[in-house]
Amino acid sequence: MADRVAIERIAEHVGQEVTIKGWLYAKTGKGKLQFLQVRDGTGILQCVVFRKEVPLEVFEAARDVSQESSLIVTGTVRADDRAPGVPGGFELGIADLQVVQLVTEEYPIAPKEHGVDFLMQNRHLWLRSSRQWATLRVRATIIKAVRDWLDDNGFILMDTPILTPAACEGTTTLFETDYHGTPAYLSQSGQLYNEATIMAFGRVYCFGPTFRAEKSKTRRHIQEFWMVEPEMAYVDLWGNMEVQEQFVSYIVQTVLRDRRPELDLLGRDVSRLEGIAPPFPRIHYDEAVAMLNKAAEAGERVPPTDELVPALEWGEDFGAPHETYVAAQFDRPVFVHHYPTQAKAFYMAQDPERPEVCRSADLLAPEGYGEIIGGGERSSDLAYLERQIERHDLPREAYEWYLDLRRFGSVPHSGFGLGIERAVMWICGLQHIRETIPFPRLLGRMYP
Ligand code: 4AD
Ligand code: MG
Repeated sequence: MADRVAIERIAEHVGQEVTIKGWLYAKTGKGKLQFLQVRDGTGILQCVVFRKEVPLEVFEAARDVSQESSLIVTGTVRADDRAPGVPGGFELGIADLQVVQLVTEEYPIAPKEHGVDFLMQNRHLWLRSSRQWATLRVRATIIKAVRDWLDDNGFILMDTPILTPAACEGTTTLFETDYHGTPAYLSQSGQLYNEATIMAFGRVYCFGPTFRAEKSKTRRHIQEFWMVEPEMAYVDLWGNMEVQEQFVSYIVQTVLRDRRPELDLLGRDVSRLEGIAPPFPRIHYDEAVAMLNKAAEAGERVPPTDELVPALEWGEDFGAPHETYVAAQFDRPVFVHHYPTQAKAFYMAQDPERPEVCRSADLLAPEGYGEIIGGGERSSDLAYLERQIERHDLPREAYEWYLDLRRFGSVPHSGFGLGIERAVMWICGLQHIRETIPFPRLLGRMYP
């Protein structure tokens, strides 16, 4: 018999006496009746204590316990539709209560509105708040779904290095460090290494932290983020998109199945997620440009920000309002493919009929979330890649091994990268990426 019951499984214990080990989240009450909201990491449970039902010292301990004090409560579980909590609908009638540590100072995050800077400064405590808790539980489920789907669909996990000698996604966002006297860079992506491992394993993925020295503050960029990157031999751009729509749909449906109370707590409109299923719409970059310029001419606005749709000159990469507008035209994520070669990374395969566009595809999430995946088919043309390395001003020596992959058994291959924090933001319906990871690394902030 376990020494405690987890609140998330409280429904299995109606009518039984159980023990909960946790913290005091909030308290209300008057006189002889006290309502304690107790959280234990798995949920929040309303615990009720009546003066006349318990020894005086138990009642006084319950009456005097302060916010975020750690405590152990024992009592009988009752079903009660009106009881708040996560999951709601259950209540514990307290028989005994033991305070483990009584908080005597004022808890910094009192139940009132706080500014974002204050909350970020107290991130180590903010994590205990219900919205943060719900978000990070969804994050863990997204990551589990990512791994389960890939492991069950023939992908082999390959851990790629974090200290690297060269850039994958352009030289402007590199974090440089010292590798015993030689410069090294924190990985922006494991992709190039997995272009090597697929030639040994067929289908692989890496999943780990990636780093980008993003110099501007936006609500969608962080300096350190987690990315899952599947890579596949003998798969072209179209096959790549088919894998992505299966993968993303599985992730969304898993969260809907396993994290419903958390989504409800966050106030997420789940009807916007329920229909996420293959196939996802696909539009060519040319079409997207035409769509955007038509909207710009007509003076249309971008929901939900309401700014005017900005025109886009052919050849330019999308800005956030372009992504938002295009994605808003569909009820599920949309692929934009064949971006201009000049707007994308050096390794992208060119369209053989139109070399000015490449076999890339970004997946844009609806409701203003924009790009959640970047990917495409990689060039297998040795001479072209040699020219691209030069054109992008990359140090040739650092890429010799990469070029070998085109000399020894080169095959058409594709892959993509899903940013976990972008996925969390979209699925949870959050306004800012800083809440999607326990301790975000933001421009100008590295504490705590
Ligand atoms: O489009 P990106 O730069 O693509 C790559 O890194 C490829 N090497 C992936 C691949 O094909 N294997 O980044 C992929 C995704 C983006 O769509 C976004 O979700 C996320 O990574 N991402 C960021 N997330 C948060 N903060 C940032 N600064 C991000 N930069 C990229
Ligand atoms: Mg991208």
